[in-house]
Amino acid sequence: MSKTLAGRTIVLGITGGIAAYKAATLCSRLVSYGADVRVIMTEGATKFIAPLTLQTLSRHPVATDTFDERDAAKVQHIDLADAADLVVVAPATANIIAKMAHGLADDMLSTTLLATTAPVLVAPAMNVHMLAHPAVQANLGILADRGVRFVESGTGQLACGYVGKGRLAEPDEIVAAIVGLLAGDRPLAGRKVLVTAGGTVERLDPVRYITNDSSGKMGFALAEAARDQGADVTLVCARTDAPPPPGVRVVKAESAQEMLDAVMQRLPEADAVVKAAAVADYRPVVRHAEKMKKGPDKLTLELERTTDILQAIGEWRREGGAAGRGPFVVGFAAETNDVERNALDKLRRKGCDLIVANDVTREGAGFGTDTNVVSVFGAEGLLESMPLQSKRAAAERIWQWVRERAGWNGEAPRS
Ligand code: PMT
Repeated sequence: MSKTLAGRTIVLGITGGIAAYKAATLCSRLVSYGADVRVIMTEGATKFIAPLTLQTLSRHPVATDTFDERDAAKVQHIDLADAADLVVVAPATANIIAKMAHGLADDMLSTTLLATTAPVLVAPAMNVHMLAHPAVQANLGILADRGVRFVESGTGQLACGYVGKGRLAEPDEIVAAIVGLLAGDRPLAGRKVLVTAGGTVERLDPVRYITNDSSGKMGFALAEAARDQGADVTLVCARTDAPPPPGVRVVKAESAQEMLDAVMQRLPEADAVVKAAAVADYRPVVRHAEKMKKGPDKLTLELERTTDILQAIGEWRREGGAAGRGPFVVGFAAETNDVERNALDKLRRKGCDLIVANDVTREGAGFGTDTNVVSVFGAEGLLESMPLQSKRAAAERIWQWVRERAGWNGEAPRS
């Protein structure tokens, strides 16, 4: 099960209707998606379903009484209102909808709803005539104007004996609406991404090595942007000028070979791989165990090719790695001339889905800078040429391209 809602606090308000029993399934589903669920029940709800059921499912005490303050350090309804990333009222009776519309605060749920600044999602459930009543419709209209979201009631046999609209939407429908709402600001929630950063180090002896000017900033910006969009980020890090950002899993890989091993090992788990690292194409054939002594003559270093990691990923995908569900792959290309031709050539040869080219001759672009000038290419050619901007802004835009081309804008992450 994908932990799409990990780190999110959902306050679930349950009101007094027969559909209250479905709130138990809803609570259980949200917990299995990784959400921290805090349940508030109205007095009416407790007549239909026991608070102990919800306490057991949510693993938190259920709040039912505004004046039942168990912790002197906290005001419970304010605490819950502040903790919420989303407040869900399901089922929502005509009564709670009226209270919300008119700002009444006479119990735990209505006071919390007034105190919260979090988005609110309402799933109405009531008799068909009650739902159609102009008073209820007007109240729903007031709430909609205020930005409250709804999961529409279903049509069918109602508990009261009528057939018509008014049934609580199914728990899975409500969960989908919640995921949609919360994933809006965390569009990579539930995705595992692998980012490489920095310049590899190819040692000649214990104190000398071949490396390049990569500072790691571009890879760090990509990792931070993915982290902030909710992804589970693994950052495979070669030599960098600064420590890696917090909130991401860091794997150290000094040489091209170490980076190859680190990336290939984690590939089956990854939904996307973005290779911003500058990887050595050559390494010394001999790595001396002791410091090399200088001699009277010229020294010729013999170098051999490293494995091209990006190409290895492409081959692994073509050979059916991860049962044809291989990750979406983005390469980078640091170019000094013929940017488009070279970038497209790399994309085709290395078999990636997108390539981000930086013309490192441009002022403010490429190695070591806080800014970059990049162009994104797909197999069909140039997709976007971006202006000079911070590496973080470029990273945000690159993830947008990944989401669009990988088809993740709307599709649930694989579990
Ligand atoms: O780290 P910064 O200072 O912020 O600088 C950012 C950057 C300029 C390093 C970055 O934006 C960038 O362009 N990274 C790729 C640089 C590079 O190595 O380009 P390349 O054209 O040599 O390689 C093309 C692609 O193949 C890259 O994705 C590279 O990671 C990959 N590659 C290269 C060689 C190799 N043996 N294995 C690889 O996977």
